[in-house]
Amino acid sequence: MTKDIQNAKSLEEISSIIADCKRCDLYQTKTKDVPGVGSPKAEIMFIGEAPGKKEDEEGEPFVGAAGKFLTEMIESIGLKRGDVYIANVLKHRPPENRDPFPEEAKACFPNLERQIEIIQPKLIVFLGRHAMNRFFPEFRISNVHGKAFQKKSDLAESGQQVYLALYHPAAALYNGGLRETLKDDFNKIPKILEKKYRKGQFR
Ligand code: URA
Repeated sequence: MTKDIQNAKSLEEISSIIADCKRCDLYQTKTKDVPGVGSPKAEIMFIGEAPGKKEDEEGEPFVGAAGKFLTEMIESIGLKRGDVYIANVLKHRPPENRDPFPEEAKACFPNLERQIEIIQPKLIVFLGRHAMNRFFPEFRISNVHGKAFQKKSDLAESGQQVYLALYHPAAALYNGGLRETLKDDFNKIPKILEKKYRKGQFR
């Protein structure tokens, strides 16, 4: 991690570092910063890949069509957007929604890592394979979606982090089968959290 971000003590501080960030060129084409939104005490942290057009205009992740679907699913399990934390790997939009360059993702990753360290979520939910592969390059979403797993993590105070990978809500918008799979996988979230509490440790 670079020094500034490592010393950030709050999500607000991270956001102000992102606002001044010139570690890649995306600041030149952004409209707004999209650091993340939600509760600093969230038990669930959702991670997507990068802001799109609407997110860049509004400065908030997942506010377009995919975001509407995500919000519906969050509410379907009895939560509100403000109860969870929603972020992306990249905090600025790649022009024309192109895939992020590897050096952009590498430069931006410390921001997300520090957000995780401050929030200490009980569960990290990847929205789509791109976000998942930033953490676990060897995983295939078709094999792991909907199955919670625990891994060692330097970012978690307990040294262990529970993860769940889901298909991306945008991919599921236009594919009925995927949409049902995503909803089924999403509905497992309360049980995954409950299991973590009951056992004190997820297995
Ligand atoms: N897709 C993402 O991965 N992130 C957003 O914020 C919006 C769409």
